Amino acid sequence: MNVLIFESPEEATQAAFEIVMKRLESGLRTIGLATGSTPLKLYEKLRNTNTDVSHVTTVNLDEYVGLEPTDPQSYNYYMNEELFKYMNFAATYVPNGVAEDPEQECERYEGILKKHPVDLQILGMGPNGHIGFNEPGTSFDSVTHIAELTPSTREANKRFFEKEEDVPTKAITMGISSIMSAKEVLMLAFGEGKAEAVRSMIEGAVTVDCPASVLQKHSNAIIILDTEAASKL
Ligand code: GLP
Repeated sequence: MNVLIFESPEEATQAAFEIVMKRLESGLRTIGLATGSTPLKLYEKLRNTNTDVSHVTTVNLDEYVGLEPTDPQSYNYYMNEELFKYMNFAATYVPNGVAEDPEQECERYEGILKKHPVDLQILGMGPNGHIGFNEPGTSFDSVTHIAELTPSTREANKRFFEKEEDVPTKAITMGISSIMSAKEVLMLAFGEGKAEAVRSMIEGAVTVDCPASVLQKHSNAIIILDTEAASKL
């Protein structure tokens, strides 16, 4: 793990942006994307570059089950608004949260990942160490599947919804094994709320209790933190 610590989320985002731009310039074909508040400024920087990405495919980590792509809380909507409508990607893939058969949707999505091996996966983390929606306890061998969201994750994500009852209870997420297949991983974590999970990810045991700790086993993982997220290291 290559751990880089910056004074502020702004400086950390700038570093992440420079890494992504370098990879785009050196022929990256498929980029894995994350949602949440952490990568928002990174996407703002990217969409302001006018970079030609007509040879680049994107694949997203996850989507809530039950939310239409037109629902402002859905990750499909988030990606369209923050990035896709500004950039000329060859293709963009986000799981379909309203597929008639969600199990079949997981299989279809895993097939897309096989066809488009990820060169660089951008990741955020939940305060409980989840990656994508792989909650503590998820097998490291998991592929794309339907995840039951923990009460703490629903609590953490309720800030994006009107009321807690509106937060879906399930999501389709790439599995941990799907995420680990990426050739390179770029994990971003900012703020005090992530400090404990960051400590477990970097200094703790590699255990399903902290899904992000699996990144210790990735041969090419860059962890970008601000000083608050790094405060317990
Ligand atoms: C959600 C997403 C994760 C994301 C996490 C962190 O749970 N499924 O992919 O990393 O939120 O969100 P934030 O960046 O808002 O802290």
